[in-house]
Amino acid sequence: MFMEKFLIYGGEKLFGNIKVDCAKNAYLPIMAASVMTEDEVVLKNMPNILDIQNMRKILEFLGAETKIDGVDLHIFGKNIKNSTISNNLSKNLRSSVFMLGPLLARFKKARVSYPGGCNIGLRPIDLHLKGLKELGAKVIESHGNICCDGSKMKSGTVILDYPSVGATENLMMASIFLPGVTKIYNPAKEPEIVDLQNFLNSMGASVCGAGSDEITITGVQKLSGTTYKPIPDRIVAGTLLIACAMCGGKVTLENVVPEHFLSLTDKLQKSGCKIVVSSDKITIESKGKPKSVEMVETLPYPGFPTDLQSQILAMQTISKGVCVVRENLFETRFRFAQELIKMGADIKLCGQTAFVCGVKELMGAEVFASDLRGGAALVLAGLCAKGHTTVHGVHHIDRGYSSFEKVLSALGAKITRESENL
Ligand code: EPZ
Repeated sequence: MFMEKFLIYGGEKLFGNIKVDCAKNAYLPIMAASVMTEDEVVLKNMPNILDIQNMRKILEFLGAETKIDGVDLHIFGKNIKNSTISNNLSKNLRSSVFMLGPLLARFKKARVSYPGGCNIGLRPIDLHLKGLKELGAKVIESHGNICCDGSKMKSGTVILDYPSVGATENLMMASIFLPGVTKIYNPAKEPEIVDLQNFLNSMGASVCGAGSDEITITGVQKLSGTTYKPIPDRIVAGTLLIACAMCGGKVTLENVVPEHFLSLTDKLQKSGCKIVVSSDKITIESKGKPKSVEMVETLPYPGFPTDLQSQILAMQTISKGVCVVRENLFETRFRFAQELIKMGADIKLCGQTAFVCGVKELMGAEVFASDLRGGAALVLAGLCAKGHTTVHGVHHIDRGYSSFEKVLSALGAKITRESENL
């Protein structure tokens, strides 16, 4: 991968319409689930982002064939024989961990290496493994690898100590073929969990309760192919809404599900933005001088999403007043704040809490992205800062935003992508 940077000249208001892509965090578990059938699976409107390209590599490493037809992703899992994912592939993509469930379902065995932590936290997978063991899987962890034997797995009941998104997805998929009824209590309730349920059922599975406190999976014999369009990306949508709230202007997003980000739109309205929603569209209007939202507490869905914490924190740096931002999910999701301070932001960090005092204006600077959403937040800060900002480490942002600079330029921002002359 060659290194690239974004060059931004701040101060432009944003105007226009953007069609939001399908959700990265829906697409990834759905791609994993597609290995549970030998038939063709067609996923509509594949977002062109690095995490999905890496997931394709994992599927092809296992023996699946994939192809792009227009904007649709075709997956042919018939020839998958391998149930082991190599170390370097697992390292490249944390989402390899939710290959465990589908591989156990289809092959009764699976081997992945520990995906390891990332820049936002330790990212343990103890809840995944505990749940699989409670369903009878034998799990051996050695030398950084996880070897699972699912030959004795049975349907049963799993009570998650924490509503982990990945653990919920893995357990839903692992129990698809287990004869009888499996129940998952205290599951994650994110819209992406409901989308995975809908996808699995479109293949002939029998899953219900996603989005509630109890998911029920009734084992079936096999799954068939399907054509499916995953839900829109609520985090990309939220990022663009916050961009407009910060810069000022009027932006309409199409292909969204407004009720998937009510916690954000509520705060944007409180900050003085005008929001109008219809069934699959949302329009935001802002004067660019938001009021502080005073308190942000990240929580599992439907609470405020941790994946929008960095972006709304960036907004608070130029909002009138003081805001307390509490990050409850990931240990080190404030790394980007140091870069905002270089731009003149007034932020005091105290463990999992950031105290943000709004300043009149940020100043452009050289800043370095170290994770996906923190990087997006630095871009938003550059869009409304005075003068030039360079954001290094664009590959972090490309993991979850397709051609972010083109989307923002289409709304009137002055932003270009350049290669790093290292
Ligand atoms: C998913 O990660 C998302 N990724 C994350 O989005 C998102 O931030 C997160 O859910 C929370 O919403 C994908 O869907 C691909 P978790 P996941 O398991 O499944 C702890 C982005 O920017 N935990 O719900 O890894 C964990 O440490 C990414 O798009 C355990 O302790 O999240 C964390 O504190 C970043 N043990 C909390 O639970 C476990 O076994 C939430 O993790 C698993 C998790």
